Amino acid sequence: MTKYLLKEYRDGVLVVTLNRPEKKNAVDAGMWMGLRTAFEDASRDDRIRCVLLCGAGKDFCSGVDLASFSEVSPGEDHPFEAAARAVATFDKPLVAAAQGVAVGGGATVLFHADIVYVGESLRLRLPFASLGLVPEWASSYMLTANIGAQRAAELFYTAEWVDADKALNCGITAEVLPDVDLFDYAMGKALEIAQWPVNSLREIKGCLRLHHAAAIDTAFEAEQAAMARQAGSPENIEAITAFMEGRPADFSKL
Ligand code: COA
Repeated sequence: MTKYLLKEYRDGVLVVTLNRPEKKNAVDAGMWMGLRTAFEDASRDDRIRCVLLCGAGKDFCSGVDLASFSEVSPGEDHPFEAAARAVATFDKPLVAAAQGVAVGGGATVLFHADIVYVGESLRLRLPFASLGLVPEWASSYMLTANIGAQRAAELFYTAEWVDADKALNCGITAEVLPDVDLFDYAMGKALEIAQWPVNSLREIKGCLRLHHAAAIDTAFEAEQAAMARQAGSPENIEAITAFMEGRPADFSKL
């Protein structure tokens, strides 16, 4: 188990914490594998009636570790694909608490949570276009389902920053809390959920997700195919190189 992912059980709630604050909780290959295992185990273990997902320190998550693409051989699926499927098909309530940065995979994972609470410092961004990439985690479907086609399109096409107020107004979050209160509030809600019988919670989740399941699968497949076309493309390489070199990307000559 990676040291960058913490798991703690309390009264029916499994708290899963992304724990790499010095990199704004960027998720490397080991963390994606740990996340997948955590959700698969939580699904099988009926002591666990709810999962609370959060980030250590000031940020929720800065998405895929941009250096981790080199950890995966060409043609091999990046482990975030399997983690995404495990979270998307998780059959019990998932609550998320996000503060500070929530970018890329650190934003799209939130769209699979049943309830998202955010801190006032939230800065959420879908940077795929700016990276020469495409949406992932079936977010092209999930965000549209959660907040509507026009608002989703605006966030994907502009790659603009979304603050806590906008996240609340467009329906990305259920509630905005001061950062200092965020974890306790979200934990309180998770404990409230976890008092109920696991089979009832599982059945409710099944009903809530019934009409989304096939569309999520279709989105995963379409996004994966599009990602295969874009990952490693000249614009993608320019964007990653620019990030590593700490300069703005220049797409003008491509
Ligand atoms: N992958 C790898 N390292 C990352 C990272 C990521 N996704 N996001 C942040 N980091 C690292 C930075 O390289 C930096 O490391 P260093 O201190 O060793 O130099 C550290 O985390 C702090 O990030 P920094 O960029 O200094 O913080 P910031 O507040 O100026 O900016 C972000 C925060 C999130 C806007 C910026 O880090 C960013 O754009 N990250 C990339 C996000 C991204 O594109 N994710 C992938 C989506 S598919």
